[in-house]
Amino acid sequence: MYPLLFRTVLARMDPERAHHLGALVIRAVGLPPVAAVARRLTAPAPGAEVHALGLRFDSPFGVAAGFDKNVTMGKGLHALGFGHVEVGTITALPQPGNPKPRLFRLVADRAVINRMGFNNDGAAVAARRLRALRRSRRRPVLGVNIGKSRAVAVEDATTDYVRSARLLAPLADYLVVNVSSPNTPGLRGLQAVETLRPLLTAVRDAARSTPLLVKIAPDLADDEVQDIAHLAVDTGLAGIIATNTTIARTGLTADPAAVEAMGAGGLSGEPLKARALEVLRLVRAAVPSEFVVVSAGGVDTAADVRARLAAGATLVQGYTAFLYRGPLWARQINRGLARGH
Ligand code: FNR
Repeated sequence: MYPLLFRTVLARMDPERAHHLGALVIRAVGLPPVAAVARRLTAPAPGAEVHALGLRFDSPFGVAAGFDKNVTMGKGLHALGFGHVEVGTITALPQPGNPKPRLFRLVADRAVINRMGFNNDGAAVAARRLRALRRSRRRPVLGVNIGKSRAVAVEDATTDYVRSARLLAPLADYLVVNVSSPNTPGLRGLQAVETLRPLLTAVRDAARSTPLLVKIAPDLADDEVQDIAHLAVDTGLAGIIATNTTIARTGLTADPAAVEAMGAGGLSGEPLKARALEVLRLVRAAVPSEFVVVSAGGVDTAADVRARLAAGATLVQGYTAFLYRGPLWARQINRGLARGH
């Protein structure tokens, strides 16, 4: 039914409006009586659980950052079968993000281009919502992804990240430093080892006992991926999330002029799959076995999840295929994992 709804209604709507509509449905699914029933139909099989970061994930599969930017969908996403939700990216200061349009579908490529630019309500509001969500018995494992406020200069990034970390780490099951979004000027430059080391050290200290991960771009050269992996281990981080969206436009079947007209932004979904798997392998080969590696990028099916786990991922995340598969996506993956296909 969802493919028909997608073709006839959602694909004709402005993508951001469709996202808001989806968010309304997901919030409704998270309401107590509905959530209990939904969860019974979507829950992962008992054997699927993963113990990592000192936490119990009831499924290896979760929602990647950017889907629930403002901590409003946690209960609904849990009811739909996701094992964890990484909320954010959250910035210390509230900000509107880039001008619209800033989200584009590439349907034939099962891909999306976005330049949202960290539109979010800011860390103080997120903290209030996280506090409420954590009181709920029915909630997913909650990752909190933090980024640099646009109004803050790149040179002052550390102070800005630390501000968010102090506020949000006590409310997070794990915390993520996002230095890999292509849509905040100068952000990805923070991935250079000499700037990343002091940043990660400061945020790690601010996060105290909350496990800290760093999320990296797929556009790094292979040796840069390895250097960051070593740095993350050296600085006492708990893990790496690989990867964010790409600025590349390769492997697309869409008309190049149409893609060009969409403008700048990060590409996600199917075209990212091969590089995301490559980066996962590079990271896994560079870190100790107990170090957590979370794989994201082009994951669509239970077989994809299984391939990432086989390549060394501890956990797996997805976003773009949710748009194309619809609300039963996590259930399909949980069932596929349970059946072994
Ligand atoms: C994202 N992603 C993202 N990542 C992040 O760390 N912070 C963010 O705010 C966002 N925002 C965002 C918005 C939109 C519209 C998309 C499609 C993606 C990246 C996301 O978490 C993930 O790393 C990539 O999209 C790759 O996974 P998929 O989408 O190919 O499964």
